[in-house]
Order: sequence, then structure tokens, then C-alpha cells
Amino acid sequence: MTRARAPGKVILLGEHAVVYGRPAIAVPLPELLAEAEIEALTRGPSGEIWIDAPDIRYSARLSETASDDPLGLVLRLGRRELGLGAHPPLHLSVTSAIPVASGLGSGAAVSVAILRAFGEHFARPFPADRLSELAFEVEKIHHGTPSGIDNTVIAYEQPVYFVRGRPIEVFRIRAPFHLLVADSGRPSPTAEAVGAVRREWQLRPQHYEGLFDEAGRLAEAGRRAIEAGEIEALGTLMDRNQTILEALALVTPTLRNMHSAARAAGALGAKISGAGLGGNLIALIRPEDSDRIAQALVAGGARRVILTEVR
Ligand code: MEV
Repeated sequence: MTRARAPGKVILLGEHAVVYGRPAIAVPLPELLAEAEIEALTRGPSGEIWIDAPDIRYSARLSETASDDPLGLVLRLGRRELGLGAHPPLHLSVTSAIPVASGLGSGAAVSVAILRAFGEHFARPFPADRLSELAFEVEKIHHGTPSGIDNTVIAYEQPVYFVRGRPIEVFRIRAPFHLLVADSGRPSPTAEAVGAVRREWQLRPQHYEGLFDEAGRLAEAGRRAIEAGEIEALGTLMDRNQTILEALALVTPTLRNMHSAARAAGALGAKISGAGLGGNLIALIRPEDSDRIAQALVAGGARRVILTEVR
């Protein structure tokens, strides 16, 4: 039996603008993991893989999955990458603590966990760059124009400064900082959100390019603030990014309430993270304020709040 894991992720600054070539920064979320387990079976047709993902009530045989089935595609990509012809029948089980469609990278984390388990099962583990590239192929199913930031931060498991199409840059965190990750209880439909922004961008390109430029500048400044250990400055940048995400019409009334509640309770800054229209808000906090701000987030509409230390 081979087991492997991959973390969720949060985007600290720059989502959506990153699809249009601006920089964004993201960090892994090790508190929430996807896990894949591969077991060799003694019976069954050669090359068959039975897939079970009970969290999403999914059960299928690889040979019967459609070409756009994300789990089937991950396995086919893994098999092609290893140049495997026939192999003994296998069972793959996938579990994940990362809520689906929540802006926390569940799709990419599941892909990376499966690929890791698959490579290790055949004693040929995939390096991080290949894990990321293969998971990117699957991301294209989730929405047509992914920037690649999710698969990158999840495969490398390090803070990344990401610009679409450029080699990945990891960066150093001078002083660890704390985030509360608060779920609005409503799914974040990535394809819908990215599509809505694209339609508006087509109607008013100049205005939207201006917003993306500003988001890119915030991501650059955010990297510098993190590298210098200037955590309060990062909070200010997150609030300014939230204003842009408001202008992109991605903030629901619940997420807006949660933002105000977190700020009123002493968060250094807060913003939605990921595609928006639902999903999670991240609040930058001092650890000693964690309980108070978590309670305020729940009173403001959050269904679940997780504390994470970014280091
Ligand atoms: C999704 O986690 C982040 C978006 O910027 C989409 C993407 O980068 O592909 C909304």
C-alpha cells in the first residue's frame, strides 16, 4: 500500500489578476490535506484501477471514466508519464479534508496527492515540477483558463510568487504570521467567477486592466513586506486587495459581513481568497487575538474557522 498527501492553499494577494499575467502570492495550507492510497489487487483485469472517493460519493473503474473525468485523467496522465504498459490491477482511494469548491485548491491537491501516490507506488516518484505540470492539465477541466497558481503552490508546498508562464519563484518568510481561514458556507464556483470577470473585462478592458495592475502591485508589495517581516503592512495590502475584489463583484454579502467583523475585532487585514462568489475569507491576525476574531467571524456568518501559521 502506498499513501501520499498534498495540502490545500490560500492566495494571499492577486487572485483573478493572475489569470491576466499579473503576479500573485500563495502559500500552502498544511492544516487541510488531500490523501491518496494505492493498493495492488491480486485479482482483476491487467491495467484496471478501481477508484473510490467517498467524500464526493464517487466510485468508478478507470476503464469506464470519461476523458474529462478529473480523477480518471490524473491516473491516465500518471500512467503516460511513467510510460506504463500493462500493470497489475490497483485500487485507489481518495479522501480530502479540503472542502470542494471553497477556493482552497481541493482539485489541485487531490491531483497532486494521487500523482504522488502513483509515482511512489511504482518506485518512480514525480519531481515537484512534473507534479505541478500534470496537475495543471487537470485544472484545465475545472476552468478553461487556469493561471497555474494552485497546482504550483500545492506541488511545491512552499510560499510562491507566481507569474503565469514564468518559472516559479519561492520566497522566504522573515517572520511567521497567522491567518484565520473562514468558510462562508457557500461554494466558490471557479469557472463561473473567472467567466464573469472575463465578460466584464471584455466590456470594459481599460478599467479592468487598471484593477489587475493594481492587484499585481499589491502582490509585489506583499512579497516585499513578507520578506521584510512587516506583517502589519501585509494586512493593509490585503484590505486593499479586498477593495479590488469588491470592484470585480466577487464578494457576497456574507463574505462582506465576515470581513467587517474580522476587522472590527482586530484583524490586521482580511480578504477573500480564491475565486470568490463564496468560499473562504482569510484574516491576518496576531495569535493572541485568534479566539476573539474567530468568534467574530462566526457571528459574522462563517461556518468554520481554521487557524494556520504561515512559516
Ligand atoms: C483560483 O484559486 C484563483 C483564480 O485566480 C483562478 C486562477 O488563477 O486560475 C481565481
